[in-house]
Amino acid sequence: MNLETEIAGIRMKNPTMLASGILGQTGRSLSRIAKEGGAGALVTKSIGLEARTGHGNPGILELDNGLLNAMGLPNPGIDNFEEEVQIAKQSSVPIIGSVFASSPEDFANLAGRMASHGADAIELNLSCPHAEGYGVEMGSDPVIVESIVKTVVEAIQIPVFAKLSPMVPDIAQIAQAVEKGGGHGIVAINTMRGMSIEPEMGMPVLSNKIGGLSGPAIKPVGVRAVYEIAQKVEIPIIGVGGINTGRDAIEYMMAGASAVQIGSGVHYRGIDIFKKVSQEIQDFMQNNNYSQLDEMIGIAGANQ
Ligand SMILES: Cc1cc2nc3c(=O)[nH]c(=O)nc-3n(C[C@H](O)[C@H](O)[C@H](O)COP(=O)(O)O)c2cc1C
Repeated sequence: MNLETEIAGIRMKNPTMLASGILGQTGRSLSRIAKEGGAGALVTKSIGLEARTGHGNPGILELDNGLLNAMGLPNPGIDNFEEEVQIAKQSSVPIIGSVFASSPEDFANLAGRMASHGADAIELNLSCPHAEGYGVEMGSDPVIVESIVKTVVEAIQIPVFAKLSPMVPDIAQIAQAVEKGGGHGIVAINTMRGMSIEPEMGMPVLSNKIGGLSGPAIKPVGVRAVYEIAQKVEIPIIGVGGINTGRDAIEYMMAGASAVQIGSGVHYRGIDIFKKVSQEIQDFMQNNNYSQLDEMIGIAGANQ
C-alpha cells in the first residue's frame, strides 16, 4: 500500500516525521532517524540566533503517561548549524529546519539562514513554554503570529510551517492567523506546561521547576486541537503529541492531519518507531478497506 504523502510540495515516502527536539541536534543523529528509523521527513532541534546551553539537570523526567522536559532550548546557534543540515541532507529525506526567535525580523533572518544551509522547509517554533522570553506571548497573540508568518514567508522561497502551542483559549484562531499570514501548514501541538514535585524533598523535580509535558498524556489535547483547526483552515495540518502507534497517527489523521510527527515515541519504542507506525497504518488501512491516506483525513469532522 502506498503511504507517499506530499505537504506543501514536500514529498515524503510515508506520513511520519521526527518532531523537533528529539535527536535533532546533529546531522548524524538526524541521518540515523532517516536511514534506520524510516522517518518520512526530519525536523531539526529548534535553532536560535545564538548558541545556548539550556537549563541544568535534571532537564527531563519520565512520568506515568508522558515526559516532562525543561531543556531550555539548548542549541548550537544558526551559524554552527550549516554542516549538520548538510550531513542530514545526505539521507535524501526532506529536512525541516525549526527556528525560534523573539521578533518577526529575527525569525525571518533565521529562516533565511536555515534555507541557505539547505533546509527544504521551515518550522516556526512559536511556543516554548519553558524558555522565558522566547515565544510564549508571541505564539498566543494572533496579530503577532500573523506578522511573524508574513515576514518569514515574504523573506524566503521554501514552505513555512507554524508550530502552535495548545496553551491558548482558541487554537483555531491562531491557526487562522497563520493562514492569513500566508503560512503553508500548521504543526499542532507543542508541549503543555506541567510540573512535578518530589514529596520527600518538598521540591520541584526539574531544575527549571516547570517543564513541557509530552507523550500519551497529551494525545487527546492534540487530537482536539487538530480537529478544531481543521474546521477553520484550508492549509495542511501536521499532527503531533503522544503518537506511539499507527492507531494514534490515524486518530490525528481522522481529526484532519495530513501527516504526523513523533517525538517522545522515540523514547518509548526506539528509533525505528517511524517504520513501526507506518506498518501499523498500512495494516489498519488493509483491515478497514482504505486504499489511500486521503480517504481517512478529516473524516471524523465530515462524519458528524
Ligand atoms: C526533550 C524534548 C525536547 C523538545 N524540543 C523541542 C524544540 O526544540 N522545538 C520544538 O518546537 N518542540 C520541541 N519539543 C516538543 C516536541 O517537538 C513535540 O511537539 C511534543 O513533544 C509533543 O509530541 P510527542 O508527544 O510525540 O513528544 C521537545 C520535546 C521533548 C520531549
